[in-house]
Amino acid sequence: MKVTNYGHACWHIEVGGTKLLFDPFITPNELASHIDINTIECDYILITHGHEDHIADVEAIAHRTGAKLVSNFEIINWFAAKGIDNGHPMNIGGKWKFDFGTLTYFTAQHSSMMPDGAYGGNPGSFLIQTAEGNFYHAGDTSLMMDMKLIPLLMKLDFALLPIGDNFTMGVDEAIIASDFIECDNIIAMHYDTFGYIVVNKEIARSKFEAVGKQLKFIEIGESFNI
Ligand code: NI
Ligand code: MN
Repeated sequence: MKVTNYGHACWHIEVGGTKLLFDPFITPNELASHIDINTIECDYILITHGHEDHIADVEAIAHRTGAKLVSNFEIINWFAAKGIDNGHPMNIGGKWKFDFGTLTYFTAQHSSMMPDGAYGGNPGSFLIQTAEGNFYHAGDTSLMMDMKLIPLLMKLDFALLPIGDNFTMGVDEAIIASDFIECDNIIAMHYDTFGYIVVNKEIARSKFEAVGKQLKFIEIGESFNI
């Protein structure tokens, strides 16, 4: 798997030749001004919830690539009404076998409203099991007891967790979350984009190190292989 950070909660993950794009919010993100969305190839766009900082570039990228959208029923219908009708609707706790692997649309403790005020369904997260490994994109969420269910469902190889605090859990809760999900390979997301979520990376890393864990920060535009 090749995992690329496009900033905030937007990740590009290539698995077995299939390209997945999560929560595209690139053109409005000043920290991601060096990323050109017209260069991004993807087969699927996975959307955790309806907030602008997770869907800003969905329309442009979906139009250009023809990628299939995967999200909750309400968000898929909202985009279909805009003419983006290549969508796969899901709801919390359901899973589906796609060509890249099995995807579960899992819970997130947050809110979900579309930019025009339309109801965005329940916010979610993604659990993805592939032949190359399993991972969790937690979306925007607090620390929640549901995370304890994840090890009963699968063994994670890595997890993308929000750490910016204020709108989601922060670093201290992410450490507890990594215990709940039984995964020590934690990659940080949802930090620094806005004033409310600026994070001191050295302190965050040292908090993880103090309990024998590692928190990884990937630069925007950088990739890693797993
Ligand atoms: Ni949100
Ligand atoms: Mn957000």
